[in-house]
Amino acid sequence: MSVTNFPGGCSSASAGVPITKVTMPALQEMKRQGKPISALTAYDYPTSRLADEAGIDMVLVGDSLAMVVLGHENTLAVTVDEMLHHTRAVRRALRRAFLVADMPFGSYHGTVAEGLANAVRFVKEAGAEAVKIEGPRVDLVRALTEAEIPVVGHLGLTPQSVHRMGGFRVQARTAQTVLQLKADALALADAGAGAIVLEGVPREVAAAITAELPVPTIGIGAGPDCDGQIIVFHDLVNLTFAPAAKFVRRYADAAELIHAAIEHYREDVEHRAFPSDAESYHLPEAAQRALNAIQKKETLKKA
Ligand code: KIV
Repeated sequence: MSVTNFPGGCSSASAGVPITKVTMPALQEMKRQGKPISALTAYDYPTSRLADEAGIDMVLVGDSLAMVVLGHENTLAVTVDEMLHHTRAVRRALRRAFLVADMPFGSYHGTVAEGLANAVRFVKEAGAEAVKIEGPRVDLVRALTEAEIPVVGHLGLTPQSVHRMGGFRVQARTAQTVLQLKADALALADAGAGAIVLEGVPREVAAAITAELPVPTIGIGAGPDCDGQIIVFHDLVNLTFAPAAKFVRRYADAAELIHAAIEHYREDVEHRAFPSDAESYHLPEAAQRALNAIQKKETLKKA
């Protein structure tokens, strides 16, 4: 396994014990060894830090940011500058996990040169270790690879194609589309993609592609046979305010926890139960005595 060691500074490792940094070659070695890859989206410092400390292998600053953090209906509105802003925050939190940034809609849909220039920004200005692009954009993947920018491909249900697909629908459900998806995945890998996200495809299709592909597949709504799995953080902890998709497993109910905490805080404020005396700063005794003396003098003067 290809490794880079961090000299410490992360609470997930015991003091002085180096952390094994996850890299693209390391992810590929995990596939060869049959070791499942864990991936999670994250968009800010605290959740990225928790993901890193929990041992997640790959953190994706997904353009799902548009929906789960910014409240848009789909992923199309998020900009390069917004994605860079959040990628920087995640960068500050990660020590071990491999950091992938999503290229947003419109940032790579023109010329290869434009796509390359935008991808360079994610590496140079935000510290991404790879960029993710949707669709079978073989020429762009080749250009990015030649420019030393690792690429994660994304095939199947590609949310940036929502209008072409007519909604978020499971893809590759006919023999012809299955063969096309397979050919696209192989072409991306051949062009240099280091890993491929397979989203919203039948389990059997993902399994067959995973078996044929020389690079890892990371599944979301693609069944358990992919080399790794990714899920949107807000789905994992129930912070989406929407019914979960079939493939989502809720591992915690953060909405309930946070709602209860905020409600409790509001009640305490309304009942003057917060803050308590112990949660208050106090004037030093000497200052209090001096203040009392000044006030006494002023009262005597007025009398
Ligand atoms: O933007 C995102 O969160 C993604 C994952 C669903 C793979 O692309």
